[in-house]
Amino acid sequence: MCGIFAYMNYRVPRTRKEIFETLIRGLQRLEYRGYDSAGVAIDGNNNEVKERHIQLVKKRGNVKALDEELYKQDSMDLKVEFETHFGIAHTRWATHGVPNAVNSHPQRSDKGNEFVVIHNGIITNYKDLRKFLESKGYEFESETDTETIAKLIKYVFDNRETEDITFSTLVERVIQQLEGAFALVFKSIHYPGEAVATRRGSPLLIGVRSKYKLSTEQIPVLYRTRNIENVKNICKTRMKRLDSSACLHAVGDKAVEFFFASDASAIIEHTNRVIFLEDDDIAAVADGKLSIHRVKRSASDDPSRAIQTLQMELQQIMKGNFSAFMQKEIFEQPESVFNTMRGRVNFETNTVLLGGLKDHLKEIRRCRRLIVIGCGTSYHAAVAMVPGIGPCEFGALEQPENRRGALSPAAWPVSSCSSLNTWTWSRHLTDCPQKPSCSWPVVSVTDFSPRSCWLQTRQVLEELTELPVMVELASDFLDRNTPVFRDDVCFFISQSGETADTLLALRYCKDRRALTVGVTNTVGSSISRETDCGVHINAGPEIGVASTKAYTSQFISLVMFGLMMSEDRISLQDRRREIIRGLRSLPGLIKEVLSLDEKIHDLALELYTQRSLLVMGRGYNYATCLEGALKIKEITYMHSEGILAGELKHGPLALIDKQMPVIMVIMKDPCFAKCQNALQQVTARQGRPIILCSKDDTESSKFAYKAIALPTTVDCLQGVLSVIPLQLLSFHLAVLRGYDVDFPRNLAKSVTVE
Ligand code: F6R
Repeated sequence: MCGIFAYMNYRVPRTRKEIFETLIRGLQRLEYRGYDSAGVAIDGNNNEVKERHIQLVKKRGNVKALDEELYKQDSMDLKVEFETHFGIAHTRWATHGVPNAVNSHPQRSDKGNEFVVIHNGIITNYKDLRKFLESKGYEFESETDTETIAKLIKYVFDNRETEDITFSTLVERVIQQLEGAFALVFKSIHYPGEAVATRRGSPLLIGVRSKYKLSTEQIPVLYRTRNIENVKNICKTRMKRLDSSACLHAVGDKAVEFFFASDASAIIEHTNRVIFLEDDDIAAVADGKLSIHRVKRSASDDPSRAIQTLQMELQQIMKGNFSAFMQKEIFEQPESVFNTMRGRVNFETNTVLLGGLKDHLKEIRRCRRLIVIGCGTSYHAAVAMVPGIGPCEFGALEQPENRRGALSPAAWPVSSCSSLNTWTWSRHLTDCPQKPSCSWPVVSVTDFSPRSCWLQTRQVLEELTELPVMVELASDFLDRNTPVFRDDVCFFISQSGETADTLLALRYCKDRRALTVGVTNTVGSSISRETDCGVHINAGPEIGVASTKAYTSQFISLVMFGLMMSEDRISLQDRRREIIRGLRSLPGLIKEVLSLDEKIHDLALELYTQRSLLVMGRGYNYATCLEGALKIKEITYMHSEGILAGELKHGPLALIDKQMPVIMVIMKDPCFAKCQNALQQVTARQGRPIILCSKDDTESSKFAYKAIALPTTVDCLQGVLSVIPLQLLSFHLAVLRGYDVDFPRNLAKSVTVE
């Protein structure tokens, strides 16, 4: 996982200093994707084509360290001007090989730097390739999988059958040998002023800027014939050479600049005109003209790539007055949550319309079950729809799936009761029409008292959709080869839309013909493109590695989906109105919670030297605890655990003593009484509970060592409010402990490796 950025100026004179500045700025925008080392490849001092050579500068550390290094290079004249130049740059998050200058990118083909490449992703067959290349005499210097690509292109070049083989043909041959995921950009001394980029599984887009008119709005995709140097333009179904009409350029071959990047945040300050590459596209720039070709055409291929205009503004991705992106993003939540609902929730008519799903509603309503899949914070947003962990919370069942925790009862084999498509779980327990022959689940109805916590806080998605819902961690879902059927509907929750585990789970479900729904924050991301339909959460760019505003917007998006599904359910109208009223007041209540920042800072001052921090709750706020604990551990490096309060007496209680700080989330919801029990258990062991409670709760605060009183909203939305103090607390703890909040060690924003 890494960030790649490359810049070509064609007939736009730029000094070396300007080129450096552009490359470094691009990398800085992408630093959230990895920051353990960085590097650039630019043309050497001599601008004569014949003597052209490539200069590599690589440095362990963040982009700032690379920036400083660039200016230390005596051999490079900063004032020298290049009319046409192509520079490539990379910020790394190590997967193969320790972070150091040799392992950082660009990786090179040989000591003469004939070919250099930057890579985001993982090449899974690199060991075989490396062995082959070593047997041919190619010497490796790094431990990376990427170096194999640099050597492989040189091998193909050294063994070319014609002198005039094109750069893009070489790349095409290289990627045919690669397995795994990649976004790649190549530069070569043999092809001065040319660029080739390609991707499979990792994101890559190209920005274009020119003051002259661009030749086209749609770049036709070219397909190679057997004669590798010819191209067949399938969309026009006739043979044609790779000429101007199949390329993007400034009309009259005028000045043009191209920017290649892992995501739009690195491009948007230069241009908002971008082309998203598809898997296996090979994009080549030669003589200032961009062409895209593919080797094979599949039935689903779009015959052209549109130049899209991004609506994102640079200030959206800048820090503003905040000291860290994470802090800014926490404070943006009144607006981001509002933006998630904007144009979708009609507060007058109590209706919700998610445009991206409306054509599939019938199909979704008829489905067997909903499976909601994600990783990390995105998974927690799904858990937030599943209060507690179902009946297992009070120990009634021994079903194997429940051992893993956050699963709804719907995860049990549904095949044994066909009535489940129309009967919700809780109704099923008592009223299944197939009783007594129904053998699902293997438990007697009396095991569930109607007073039980779980029945009182039914998961909001099951409640509103009247469908069984499973919540799954993408990695575990894949490990288990989970059965998926064509009448399942699978949701993929992902801020980045690029998380490898989630993407693989999506492909797994697609192969089984399930309807796939993306819930992402990144337009044009792999998940948003590969799903059948979806919801864009509209939270705005999230740069801080620790996800905050995406969580609350994902949460709201899933609730909105439930509301849309239940529109014609007469029995649910009161509940729907209550939730929609709650949604309306949410941005204002979030502001109220944010005003507690100083108080939370004071709390952090008391806690920041601790080694461990427990976060406990149940019901609708169990997800809050998991998410709060994840935030604390990822940016403060303290040990933190989200504990289901019902499980306290089954083990975690042993951790409680005078020293151990315990945050307890106790809201005035159906679990209130049970949370009080947990509170008593903690105080009886001389624990000092820090309580997040409802404003009108005078009872809990009596036992609190510290209490933070929060505004209340409807039960199933309370988690949006109660997670915010934990986000703020983790932020203050990390700052007080002296850590870089936006770039936690060993982590990256977008996890594009399995
Ligand atoms: C935690 C965090 C991660 C991500 C996870 C999934 O703060 O950000 O746990 O939530 O890596 O990422 P996305 O949502 O991009 O699929």
